[in-house]
Amino acid sequence: MGRFLKMAALVSAIIAYSGTAPAQSSKPQSPAPPPAASEYVGSETCATCHDEVAKGFANNPHTKIAEMHGKSGVTCEGCHGPGKAHVDGGGDVTKIFDPAKASSKEVDKTCLGCHAGAHPNFDRSPHAKANVGCTSCHSVHASKEPEHLLKASQPQLCYQCHTDVKPSFDMPFHHKVNEGLVTCNDCHDVHGTFGEKNLKTTADQNAICTKCHTETRGPFVFEHAAVKAEGCTGCHTPHGSQNARLLNMPNINVLCNQCHSQVAQDTVHGMNAGSSDSVPCTSCHTYIHGSNMNAAFLR
Ligand code: HEC
Ligand code: HEC
Ligand code: HEC
Ligand code: HEC
Ligand code: HEC
Ligand code: HEC
Ligand code: HEC
Ligand code: HEC
Ligand code: HEC
Ligand code: HEC
Repeated sequence: MGRFLKMAALVSAIIAYSGTAPAQSSKPQSPAPPPAASEYVGSETCATCHDEVAKGFANNPHTKIAEMHGKSGVTCEGCHGPGKAHVDGGGDVTKIFDPAKASSKEVDKTCLGCHAGAHPNFDRSPHAKANVGCTSCHSVHASKEPEHLLKASQPQLCYQCHTDVKPSFDMPFHHKVNEGLVTCNDCHDVHGTFGEKNLKTTADQNAICTKCHTETRGPFVFEHAAVKAEGCTGCHTPHGSQNARLLNMPNINVLCNQCHSQVAQDTVHGMNAGSSDSVPCTSCHTYIHGSNMNAAFLR
């Protein structure tokens, strides 16, 4: 039985992979025409015994699979593999691919057979590496969400597993994810990216932050080396913080003096300028992310 499931997965993987050349578009790619069309029975036949499932499927985006291969695509069997033996056996459960009983890797392979074009980095994502597969977050037949066949709405879906991250979004200063203004997916792509921690980047390979905070993007005539070298998280905590402006530290001067401690002693600033109880550095160095006017970011 275990062996058969593996074979079934293999068959669906072959169906899935043997077709179209490198998948690059965001539209699901067509798997190859079935190697042995006679092994397929079509969804109408499945419906004769799986009435409930078939009815529930009427509005599923996957009904579009039927449009593939010049409208000869097999709907149910696109995921469950060829069903003739299962039907001939009067519903022999050992002769059909059941994702509910397969490993997450086998299921992912089946899904990626059509969706690798939109999600080419999944296999190297922290989720895939931790065996969090497509059906950990998506449900094909019993989705509770109108969009994207998700198992739960966001951000609750994420919090179910990332309980450690949740408290940050309740802090006094936070990106308004719970309020629905920003989503986890604005900064992360859970299907994997080229970066660490599933982080997205902008089209010009900048930190994703600059997509919304365009005024920090530059390029500036006078760049602040700290922004380029450390990135935004050198000074800001992305999820939430006790400190205004999502700063990593409660005191701006202490933050600056991690790198500029000598400033306190120099002639420009006077003996005590760098101390934590004097005026914030940014009251003069206003354009802290970079300036086109002044090398010291004064304007
Ligand atoms: C002759 C009736 C019949 C037809 C036609 C039929 N099935 Fe089944 N199927 C069954 C029975 C009976 C079971 C086992 C009882 C159950 O769990 O519902 C089953 C179970 C399954 C399972 C679960 C397997 C498991 O491991 O428990 C899947 C998936 C499935 N069928 C898919 C399909 C698909 C896809 C088609 C069309 C290609 C199809 N079936 C056509 C009768 C049928
Ligand atoms: C996009 C892939 C996909 C398509 C298309 C699809 N299924 Fe499924 N099916 C699954 C997955 C994944 C599961 C495992 C449960 C889940 O995640 O929802 C499943 C579970 C099932 C089960 C129950 C197995 C169990 O043990 O719970 C049956 C029966 C079934 N599918 C029948 C069908 C029929 C009939 C069709 C066509 C109307 C169909 N499926 C179309 C992916 C698919
Ligand atoms: C950790 C949870 C998670 C996992 C694992 C996951 N997804 Fe998703 N998926 C999501 C969320 C959340 C969205 C909605 C994204 C958005 O709103 O930008 C989504 C959107 C999608 C979409 C529609 C939008 C798009 O970007 O194409 C497809 C298709 C999809 N996922 C397929 C898959 C496949 C295939 C797998 C497995 C290889 C998978 N997902 C694994 C959470 C997940
Ligand atoms: C045979 C090809 C095929 C397979 C296999 C397949 N899909 Fe799809 N999937 C599609 C098509 C076609 C659509 C509809 C796309 C559209 O509407 O443009 C779709 C749509 C989706 C969507 C909804 C996208 C949206 O924007 O709402 C999700 C989520 C998704 N698939 C996840 C999965 C998962 C999870 C699996 C594996 C269990 C899977 N798919 C297997 C072809 C496939
Ligand atoms: C089924 C549980 C589960 C769900 C649901 C889930 N994740 Fe994950 N996620 C994990 C696991 C396990 C890892 C890998 C271990 C780790 O680093 O925490 C991970 C890793 C991550 C990482 C990378 C962490 C790192 O340190 O590299 C990010 C970012 C992430 N998930 C975001 C999300 C978002 C956003 C959602 C909701 C759309 C989500 N996850 C839903 C379980 C889940
Ligand atoms: C404003 C952008 C942004 C949003 C919104 C966001 N994240 Fe993150 N997240 C990041 C950045 C940047 C990191 C990396 C932090 C670092 O490396 O110091 C990160 C790190 C993580 C990690 C790795 C563990 C950690 O804390 O470093 C997880 C897990 C994670 N995010 C999950 C989520 C979830 C779940 C949501 C939604 C509830 C979410 N993130 C919303 C930007 C964001
Ligand atoms: C999807 C758009 C979006 C992305 C991406 C984004 N932010 Fe934000 N950010 C916002 C919004 C909206 C606010 C809230 C503005 C408000 O409340 O007035 C905000 C607020 C902030 C604030 C506080 C501003 C203030 O005046 O108190 C900081 C700092 C910040 N973001 C930094 C970042 C960093 C760092 C990243 C990348 C890790 C990032 N943002 C990614 C939309 C975004
Ligand atoms: C060297 C430390 C540092 C780095 C690196 C940094 N910031 Fe800031 N940022 C600050 C300070 C300090 C403030 C508060 C300024 C104030 O209160 O006058 C600030 C304020 C902000 C604000 C609030 C609006 C504003 O301009 O006052 C946003 C949004 C912001 N930063 C986004 C970003 C983004 C996006 C990045 C990465 C491109 C980034 N920051 C990198 C130190 C930094
Ligand atoms: C992570 C280290 C780091 C942090 C934190 C940091 N800086 Fe910088 N800063 C640098 C580096 C490196 C340079 C480039 C120095 C050079 O070119 O000699 C620089 C340059 C400057 C300059 C221009 C110096 C010149 O010679 O023209 C000013 C002004 C400045 N920083 C102010 C600040 C302020 C104010 C803060 C706090 C909001 C801050 N910096 C936080 C590393 C940092
Ligand atoms: C009262 C306004 C003011 C405050 C407050 C201030 N600065 Fe300055 N800073 C200046 C001026 C004016 C210059 C000289 C600019 C020039 O030479 O064009 C300067 C120059 C600098 C320079 C580059 C030259 C040097 O001395 O190395 C750095 C770095 C710097 N400041 C960092 C800081 C830091 C860090 C703080 C907070 C601890 C701070 N400044 C607070 C006004 C201020």
